[in-house]
Amino acid sequence: MTNPGSEASALLTRIPEPELMDDDDQARAYAEADFVEPHNHFVQLLQETFPELPEMGTALDLGCGPGDITLRFARAFPAWSVEGWDASEAMLNYGYQAVAAAKLQDRITLKKVYVPQSDTVSDTKSDTVSFPLIFSNSLLHHLADPMALWTEVKQQSGLGTAVFIMDLMRPAKRETAKDFVDLYAQGEPEVLRRDFFNSLLAAYRVDEVQDQLAQAGLEQLQVREVSDLHLIIWGHIAE
Ligand SMILES: C[S@@+](CC[C@H](N)C(=O)[O-])C[C@H]1O[C@@H](n2cnc3c(N)ncnc32)[C@H](O)[C@@H]1O
Repeated sequence: MTNPGSEASALLTRIPEPELMDDDDQARAYAEADFVEPHNHFVQLLQETFPELPEMGTALDLGCGPGDITLRFARAFPAWSVEGWDASEAMLNYGYQAVAAAKLQDRITLKKVYVPQSDTVSDTKSDTVSFPLIFSNSLLHHLADPMALWTEVKQQSGLGTAVFIMDLMRPAKRETAKDFVDLYAQGEPEVLRRDFFNSLLAAYRVDEVQDQLAQAGLEQLQVREVSDLHLIIWGHIAE
């Protein structure tokens, strides 16, 4: 006989991982990894989610890492500029090189910024410039406090800002995380496989993200699974 609560109580508990990826070996392995498929999928889903973005503007990429998605976005939206923020010097160094190699310095600016810049959303927010589009990939699960992301989204957005965030989803079982590493990171350097495994254990589930959004007063954003690995959070800022 099964205990009615046993399945839920057996779900894998979240294990946080270090926030910043500031070790050079780690940053190099990440910058050199083949993310063509997931990162193109990110840009494609963003385009499908927001088919009516303004013709031009400046987007904000939170936790941009070595800038691969930042660059893919800039190529897909040639009239837009992008600011990429990350607090890891090691990651940003790979990003500066990639932006220069792509000759996109006129449209992409990478900055060393720790998220959140402030723990509170400022009262004078209406005086500051807001971004018409904020996107982020795989930052949320790194944060010691997930509210860091939602505070920054609130701080940097204005009425109507489009928000598109993708992150990993924590599987129900540790064994599934191991299987995902074997399936999706076969042949990758050990440091990358280790980080991927730790990231899966540190990721949030859909219901946990919904709770975070409710706590942040961002219920206008929606959450859904888009693959066995990923969820997206999207919507327009309503106030
Ligand atoms: C898994 S990487 C994702 C990089 C990039 N978005 C991508 O998809 O390729 C996560 C990045 O978030 C950065 N990060 C983690 N916590 C941060 C924080 N509090 N402020 C700024 N950057 C942070 C890490 O340094 C790392 O570069």
